[in-house]
Amino acid sequence: MSQLKVAVIGAGSISEVHFAGYDQNPEATIVAVCDLNEERAKAKADKYKAEKVYTDYRELLADPGIDAVSICTWNNSHAEIAVAALEAGKHVLVEKPLCKTVEEALRVQEAVRQSGKTLQVGFVRRYSSNTQIVKQFLEAGELGEIYYAKASCLRRLGNPGGWFSDKERSGGGPLIDLGVHIIDLCWYLMGRPKVKSVSGNTYNRLGNRAHVKGLSFYKASDYDASKNTVEDLANAVIRFENGASLLVDVSFTLHALKDEITVKIYGDKGGAEIEPELAIVTEKHDTILNMTPQVDNLSFNFTQGFNSEVNHFVDACFGRKETLSPVEDGVEMMKILCGIYESAEKGREVYFD
Ligand SMILES: NC(=O)c1ccc[n+]([C@@H]2O[C@H](COP(=O)([O-])OP(=O)(O)OC[C@H]3O[C@@H](n4cnc5c(N)ncnc54)[C@H](O)[C@@H]3O)[C@@H](O)[C@H]2O)c1
Repeated sequence: MSQLKVAVIGAGSISEVHFAGYDQNPEATIVAVCDLNEERAKAKADKYKAEKVYTDYRELLADPGIDAVSICTWNNSHAEIAVAALEAGKHVLVEKPLCKTVEEALRVQEAVRQSGKTLQVGFVRRYSSNTQIVKQFLEAGELGEIYYAKASCLRRLGNPGGWFSDKERSGGGPLIDLGVHIIDLCWYLMGRPKVKSVSGNTYNRLGNRAHVKGLSFYKASDYDASKNTVEDLANAVIRFENGASLLVDVSFTLHALKDEITVKIYGDKGGAEIEPELAIVTEKHDTILNMTPQVDNLSFNFTQGFNSEVNHFVDACFGRKETLSPVEDGVEMMKILCGIYESAEKGREVYFD
């Protein structure tokens, strides 16, 4: 069996599920790790038996023995590293968001086209088994046309600090970090309709609330609460050319009773909830039916989702499958996210041509 030789660039928190994903794939071998923090890169290289450790991704990309890379760095370096990797002839799995701006996204798209290599955007929730179950119902026309979707990802306390809360490195707060997942998931299940306009609001009213005691939350590897230049709440209405609309809200902190994640889509023949738990609603013989699929994972399962994403990427690198999350979708998502930030700043709806 031929092996895909992979490297992981960025060895922080999320890299663990990339390493574990490649590790469980019999056709992938982890050969190199890169991080600005050498100790962190070495620790992962030891754990996953990678031969080479780098602190400069350019040196790693010059290695002809590497076929593919996962990019798990801060958002501000995704585009630069992705373009360099594609130019070096590597396949790329890049964490979400694709990058920070639409201009960067277009540069990555151009590099994908020039190189002919696979680039998969880390929209991991597309690869989740609950999403793929709903997708089958949608493709069979059983939910009809989806005309409305609604998604929330509200953390009452969960600004991860460090680079996440430094707009320079992250591109924004909960909208670009959490919103990207749930907006993408709705948009994907809605059939990727063309965006017509967005109207958004962002707030920075509560700060990061680093003073709160007794409640733990996800933190960046280099947690630092001293800098916070990102919003703590964002909401938006997204209109599509086919008349469908999507309502979304996301927070890093909010005076809410509890954390909340909901992803719901509504069609003219049926509806579905993907989060908090998979459920399908329809009507038969003048009766409304709430259906609960009998499966192991009714919610997003981290390990299943990332293994499935990595396995799909490996298949795509071998040319057996098309990626489910191509660069074009990453570009569309950047248009939506940046459009929402622009709308919030201007205080009015933003239209796309
Ligand atoms: N798919 C998901 O559910 C999910 C969850 C968390 C984070 N992420 C994404 O993963 C990425 C990393 O997030 P994280 O939580 O692991 O952050 P992290 O801070 O824990 O790790 C990032 C690592 O990247 C390294 N790094 C930064 N720039 C680099 C460069 N130019 N070259 C080499 N190394 C570099 C840092 O030193 C750090 O070790 C982000 O894009 C984030 O949005 C995705």
